[in-house]
Amino acid sequence: MTGLTQTEATTGQTVDDVAVDVRGLTITFTAAGKTITPIDGLDLQVRRGELVCILGPSGQGKSTLLRAVAGLTRPDAGSITTPEGAVTEPGAERGMVFQQDAIPMWLRVQDNVAFGPKLRGVPRAEYQPTVDHLIEEVGLDEWRRAWPRQLSGGMRKRVAIAAVFANEPSILLMDEPFGALDFFTREKLQGLLLQLWAETAKTVLFVTHDVDEALLLADRIVILGKGRVAQDITVPFARPRGDDLRSDPAAIELRQELIGRLGEK
Ligand SMILES: Nc1ncnc2c1ncn2[C@@H]1O[C@H](COP(=O)(O)OP(=O)(O)O)[C@@H](O)[C@H]1O
Ligand SMILES: [Mg+2]
Repeated sequence: MTGLTQTEATTGQTVDDVAVDVRGLTITFTAAGKTITPIDGLDLQVRRGELVCILGPSGQGKSTLLRAVAGLTRPDAGSITTPEGAVTEPGAERGMVFQQDAIPMWLRVQDNVAFGPKLRGVPRAEYQPTVDHLIEEVGLDEWRRAWPRQLSGGMRKRVAIAAVFANEPSILLMDEPFGALDFFTREKLQGLLLQLWAETAKTVLFVTHDVDEALLLADRIVILGKGRVAQDITVPFARPRGDDLRSDPAAIELRQELIGRLGEK
């Protein structure tokens, strides 16, 4: 038996532990005279500092859920609460990185990374050390004065990641952020994310359709079905994870089970 059992995320948790509390979330769309409800009474609690992957094929409401937590989509019913209160609109404490995200092309790398804190009126003396540190960490020190058009797609994604961390959100919402990148770039950026996550202890909600990405990144893997959490799986493997995931029999078994579950939908 691998970790494929329903965990009871809500048991034994104090309010302080919960970074994202989704209750009875329902979101309905009407398009071309048809009504669909991709999120239908969904409950999900994410603990502070936890990295949760929402895994599944397209069309299951993963992006809809993430956009609702971001405050970009209003629920038809239910609630989303963070330690800052009820989510009704986007807020700086919830940082977002989406696959299709374009970084501002008219800002040099260093100004892209500093954009958020600058916009919020944080004094330069306060944000600059963090910005410098992040630019170094994402490996763009020599590119700080470059324009985005001079960078590869992977480098632009590094800028986006540094920029979101520079804004010091407590919750990070990532929707297939590495989906458009090649295998090697993707591997590097997954490693970079894990490194920054370990350093900053942020709560991360990460959407992916890639089983291996979820196994590498997640403390918990959530699979949606019928608009709710259909599976909630604790990933038991020690970190750092890497090549051993490909050889560990328990990891291979969990991977196969996950692929099977996704295929059932
Ligand atoms: N703004 C919208 N208007 C109408 N339908 C939408 C809208 N956003 C998403 N949907 C529909 O909701 C369903 C779930 O979409 P989505 O959350 O993007 O799924 P996923 O991210 O899992 O691929 C899909 O059928 C999609 O077409
Ligand atoms: Mg999506």
